[in-house]
Amino acid sequence: MANTSIVSINDLTKAEILDLLDLASYFEKHTNSKILDGRVVATLFFEPSTRTRLSFETAASRLGARVIGFSDPSATSTSKGETLKDTIKMVSNYADVIVMRHYLEGAARYASEVTDVPIINAGDGAHQHPSQTMLDLYSIFKTQGRLDDITVTMVGDLKYGRTVHSLLMALSHFRVKFNFVACDELRMPKEFRDFCDANGIEYKESKDFSPEIINESDIIYMTRVQRERFTDLLEYERVKDLYNLNAAMLENSKPTVKVLHPLPRVGEISQDVDDSPKAYYFQQAKNGLYARQALICRVLGIDPRKDNND
Ligand code: CP
Repeated sequence: MANTSIVSINDLTKAEILDLLDLASYFEKHTNSKILDGRVVATLFFEPSTRTRLSFETAASRLGARVIGFSDPSATSTSKGETLKDTIKMVSNYADVIVMRHYLEGAARYASEVTDVPIINAGDGAHQHPSQTMLDLYSIFKTQGRLDDITVTMVGDLKYGRTVHSLLMALSHFRVKFNFVACDELRMPKEFRDFCDANGIEYKESKDFSPEIINESDIIYMTRVQRERFTDLLEYERVKDLYNLNAAMLENSKPTVKVLHPLPRVGEISQDVDDSPKAYYFQQAKNGLYARQALICRVLGIDPRKDNND
């Protein structure tokens, strides 16, 4: 069987992304099913996580699968020097799907090359976070009713934020205008700006999170400054508090605008935004359950819609 791993959002065509969104919508209506009865899903988290791990594990449980894995690699034989290759080969003996988060960019791709068991990348360094992207797309589609003809403003750590890198690539399939709001140190990397230039994708860069930018946005995607990726912590201290969104700043924004954040937030969104109908980050995280159910089924080649017409 061909390896069906999802390591990067670039592994998926536009048609495949749309089909996964449709499958996520199916699971929102049919969250509890036993279609994975007898299957085992492994979650290997070499980096901390709350949402991604717990929503993957909930997704697998609600599909009827058993879950094995770890959230603390120091309690595994990795701490005795076992290599990633050997760890993946061992877990492949036990599980039908491996969900993995790792601090090294490229770790998920490497894992997919040493096993036939499908790997779902749950975040690799500053590189990609494709399951987050699927729930982000699902959230945008649910709230805007479309993925075309929208303005998406990405704010904060555009350099190290793997979620914005994956989301940009996914949205490149649609007619989207971007605002990239970041300081020089955290600017959207050149490879992504070059990609936009080469593909006729409209974007503006700004250091100022201005009212004009907020008021023209359909989606405001706030991000946390990724402390764990900095080699110079003094630089982190200089840039960590540059961008904050509060309720007053949304006063003249579009009635339909939604504020997203992959979470966890540190100081990027004031708590007074939480009660606004424009805040969507907690529902966004809930959508992760349905998007991840869709991803697990896809890598296993299981489609419950074939037997169910609603
Ligand atoms: N959005 C996200 O990846 O959250 P966690 O780090 O809590 O999994």
